[in-house]
Amino acid sequence: TADIVPQAPEDPLFGLMAAYRKDTFAQKVDLGIGAYRDDNAKPWVLPVVKKADKIIADDPDLNHEYLPIAGLQQFTSASQRLSLGADSPAIKEGRVASLQTISGTGAVHLGALFLSKFYKYSGQTPTGYFSNPTWANHGQIFDTARLSHKTYRYFSPTTKGLDFEGMMSDIKATPEGSIILLHACAHNPTGVDPTQEQWKQIAQVMAQRRQFPFFDTAYQGFASGDLNKDAWAIRYFIAQGFELCIAQSYAKNFGLYGERAGCFHFVTAPGSDAQSTITRIASQLAILQRSEISNPPAYGARIASLVLNTPELFAEWEANLRTMSGRIIEMRTQLRAKLEQLGTPGTWNHITDQIGMFSFTGLSEKQVLKIREDAHVYMTKNGRISMAGLNSHNIDYFAKAVDKVVRE
Ligand code: LMR
Repeated sequence: TADIVPQAPEDPLFGLMAAYRKDTFAQKVDLGIGAYRDDNAKPWVLPVVKKADKIIADDPDLNHEYLPIAGLQQFTSASQRLSLGADSPAIKEGRVASLQTISGTGAVHLGALFLSKFYKYSGQTPTGYFSNPTWANHGQIFDTARLSHKTYRYFSPTTKGLDFEGMMSDIKATPEGSIILLHACAHNPTGVDPTQEQWKQIAQVMAQRRQFPFFDTAYQGFASGDLNKDAWAIRYFIAQGFELCIAQSYAKNFGLYGERAGCFHFVTAPGSDAQSTITRIASQLAILQRSEISNPPAYGARIASLVLNTPELFAEWEANLRTMSGRIIEMRTQLRAKLEQLGTPGTWNHITDQIGMFSFTGLSEKQVLKIREDAHVYMTKNGRISMAGLNSHNIDYFAKAVDKVVRE
């Protein structure tokens, strides 16, 4: 075996993080990984998470027993309500199977594994279609699950917005029954989302083509600052009667990155046999989960569950979310203004048009590497920046570095 295992490349994003940490330059700027930072470039433990943490630590009944295979029930049911809406007919009709997962990655993985094993259309396992570009991990997760994948057009380099026509014509052209992976909100890496009107058209085409929507929702609360609005697309698709699945992460919106709290939901279409279908699906998901992780980790789910299920803590969480999304919006406004003041060649409206954690700056790979070398600014090669890495202390420095590299 030793001879036949080829050396794999380092993960680009985690490699970037390691390179940043090693850099000793005082003014270095980290715009790489999508993790929220405060105005001092420090990780931010949400105040509501600190509070929940203390309540849990003081609980005399706390123990470290195993969770059930599907995870903490109060957590998965609250996760359903958060994503599907508290008054969701799918929840009322008992046609949702939910399992706690190793954050969003684990949820995408569990979904991909399940589809790879059970989802057939005309006797074939359908291909997954991703937006071009998409989160760097989607491809390798599908590879691991032995699901083939291709892309549909999504981002227009010209407008730095959505290539809606390209997206629609590519989705129309995919084979019937294809799996279409959709970012529920705050698209990673582009920060470009369809409008509600566009979502309706996407749903219409996908219904005609009998396609299977696979939603990835890792930024609920980050796009509009409103949890319900950010779940609109998912709820609309469910209302249209799709069978679909959802991979939900609490890494960003709870700041629980390392605790790996997430949830996978499978929603069946309405119908008289929906409940028996979901029972069978849940039983198979449980076997996949058991064989992979046995049962999920408790800590992050306990925190999220306490907050999601306690009205006062929930309200405080919403305020914490507004603090994060508000600071990011402020950085967008300032960055655009600074580049426009500097007269940096090009247009910069996309910085404020795009939403969520990321901006797709339009900088080329060459410019990204140059800015890293000259100014010690770290961003991914595709020109994505994590807006949360900008703050009142480094935004001038960054704007000047962009100005310089664009003029070179
Ligand atoms: C990102 O895209 O930066 C985050 O989703 C972190 C990750 O795991 O890739």
